[in-house]
Amino acid sequence: MVALDIAGFLHDGFALREHLAAFLTLPEEELETRMAAATDALAQLQPTALDEPGCERFYESEVGAGHLYELAGWHLQSADYIADTLRVQMTAAQGDHLDFGGGIGSHALAAAALPQVRRVWMVDLNGSNREFVAWRARRVGLEDRIVCCRDLSDAQLPGRFDSLTCLDVLEHVPDPAALLSQLADRLMPEGGVALLNWYFFKGFQGEYPFHIDDPALVQRFFEVLQERFLERFHPYLITARTYTLRSRG
Ligand SMILES: C[S@@+](CC[C@H](N)C(=O)[O-])C[C@H]1O[C@@H](n2cnc3c(N)ncnc32)[C@H](O)[C@@H]1O
Repeated sequence: MVALDIAGFLHDGFALREHLAAFLTLPEEELETRMAAATDALAQLQPTALDEPGCERFYESEVGAGHLYELAGWHLQSADYIADTLRVQMTAAQGDHLDFGGGIGSHALAAAALPQVRRVWMVDLNGSNREFVAWRARRVGLEDRIVCCRDLSDAQLPGRFDSLTCLDVLEHVPDPAALLSQLADRLMPEGGVALLNWYFFKGFQGEYPFHIDDPALVQRFFEVLQERFLERFHPYLITARTYTLRSRG
């Protein structure tokens, strides 16, 4: 039985090694080797262009299963940080909850286990990530509470969400301001809560060549953030922020 609370995450990332090894049918030692090499391997895989087709191709096809190793290595190595984001998520998630760019599903699983959450809608361009999260949901008995979709145009998705998580994704999309507007349009105007963070930087050693850092795009992002969202205080992490929508009267 996997405990989907903070202690359970700090213990073993919600059985992450075991889940990934079983999903990929890999011996655990090989998984360790691949996770250790994954950040460098991903940085070698430069996207050909950071425009919309380039980003889509990169995350949907070129990265493939490589992102599973990279994200798993990161969640296990930086478990204290991820646990803090889960703590913040507990203050925000409710009702129909969107996890946009949900990756390997740590946040989706934790949200789906919360009594105040009706269903988690995990959206991710990467098919390996979606299959892994759906597999994990079945493995922990939450398959009725997590639905995985490729993008926001999927007709299964609710028109509006009661809450949303979009963590470590905004710097990966070609136009972060456009995504932020879309997220604002899909959040409940009354009582909806968004959990967001961003890192518009390619890294001190250039280790994140695929991150968006164009100053004009970043400025537009902050303009939309300030037009559409009002920050809410929480006591856990200053890099992951929660928001309600400003009224558009
Ligand atoms: C750095 S990972 C973050 C994953 C997860 N949110 C976390 O915090 O571990 C970025 C994720 O965004 C997804 N992604 C990138 N562009 C996307 C897009 N346009 N639509 C949906 N998902 C996208 C990637 O496939 C990847 O899973």
